[in-house]
Amino acid sequence: MIHVEDLEVVYEGSQKPAVEGVNLDLQPGELKTLTGPNGGGKTTILRAITGLIPSFYPGRVKGRIEIDGCDPRECDPREKVFLLLQDPKIQVTGATVFLEASSPLVLRGVDRKTIMERVWEQLHVYGLLDYKWTHVYMLSSGLLQRTALAAAGVLRSRYLLLDEPSSFLDRSARTVLYSILDRLRGEGVGVLVATHDVKLAELADESYIVIRGVNKGIYRINKHHLNPPRQGGELVLKLEKVSAGYPGSRQLVIHDISLQARKSELVLLQGPNGGGKTTILYTIAGFLKPMKGRIIIKGRPRLLPADPFLVFPRGRLSDIIDDPGRISFTEKINEIYDKPIYSLSGGELRLAALAIVLSSGGDILLLDEPTAGLDPENKWLVIEAIHKLARAGYTIVAASHDEELSEIATRSYLVVEGRIRECYGIC
Ligand SMILES: Nc1ncnc2c1ncn2[C@@H]1O[C@H](COP(=O)(O)OP(=O)(O)OP(=O)(O)O)[C@@H](O)[C@H]1O
Ligand SMILES: [Mg+2]
Repeated sequence: MIHVEDLEVVYEGSQKPAVEGVNLDLQPGELKTLTGPNGGGKTTILRAITGLIPSFYPGRVKGRIEIDGCDPRECDPREKVFLLLQDPKIQVTGATVFLEASSPLVLRGVDRKTIMERVWEQLHVYGLLDYKWTHVYMLSSGLLQRTALAAAGVLRSRYLLLDEPSSFLDRSARTVLYSILDRLRGEGVGVLVATHDVKLAELADESYIVIRGVNKGIYRINKHHLNPPRQGGELVLKLEKVSAGYPGSRQLVIHDISLQARKSELVLLQGPNGGGKTTILYTIAGFLKPMKGRIIIKGRPRLLPADPFLVFPRGRLSDIIDDPGRISFTEKINEIYDKPIYSLSGGELRLAALAIVLSSGGDILLLDEPTAGLDPENKWLVIEAIHKLARAGYTIVAASHDEELSEIATRSYLVVEGRIRECYGIC
């Protein structure tokens, strides 16, 4: 059993505890979830259970933590517990998808036959067989997250802790994940998942809301409704049969993409992981040159990459933007304005990156997964901000798996295997 009693964590450099008074248990064969607002302390709890605080993240940990009777600060918990980190890029270190999924077992001296069986099984369930020789740095964010999940799955640990494992997954991969978690529970694995996904929390035997302390329940807010902004402004973006790929490879990733966006529009790109949504955004942004076709663009494009570190690699938000007053979720931004980047939670980091892009002066905003990892309230604030910008005359092209974002889209496209077609509502 994992037993946590009166846990309190104070990160080095902070005055107040990130979490306190945390009590929870996890038995083998149980599935439990941690929900709650961004910065509430979910990740901190998972880091403390696995001993990452203080071994990697400096800080003071008080209270009792036991994993089958053993304190992770005194004995190595890795034999029993595996933690999938919130940012898959930090976890994934292999060269190819196959190597990533096999190396945890190779390093533990597991025999070849067992390795092959387990790796193939995991690649199969996460739909990664076609990508087994793909270099991990070429993967889309969703495929990277699937790869991290596959690598976590091969180990067959007694306890599996997952930090927001579904934030970049498409709908079908989410469904796969739900059934895998259910199967693991049936096989006697203890699973603890930090998540903003209410459907996942509803599957659990028990769910907690983490706001510095923990209480039983699922964190949700009342749903709001917004109508899509009115369509019909001047045409500002047009792609005519555009094909493109990445430098150093002659292979095309997107083929014959035709797309248009008008002033005041929110155009949504939907579709499975690895389909080509991000590549389309990179091509519009001018990072990739079309090999065929043409792009007509009237305005200044600005890109929010799916990985916030690409626009906000170090320092503090206050080093980069002088006036957070122009952003509609200013209050949230003020809370994190002066915090060093390493101390931001996953959701806070995405909000910061979004603030940088929104204040950068572009009028065609290309947003890659703008709501991934955001708690329900912050997600609402971002959707509202996007809506306001569209009404004010900005053009927004967003790639997202978020069904709530599709409710305010004026135009939707489905992108599959590098090809596009227009569709209506949720594609
Ligand atoms: N390495 C760190 N150093 C200092 N403070 C930190 C560090 N990591 C997190 N914090 C702070 O601890 C608090 C809890 O953060 P944590 O990452 O645990 O939240 P979370 O619930 O996982 O949020 P999210 O939903 O955004 O992932 C936040 O105030 C955060 O700013
Ligand atoms: Mg977190």
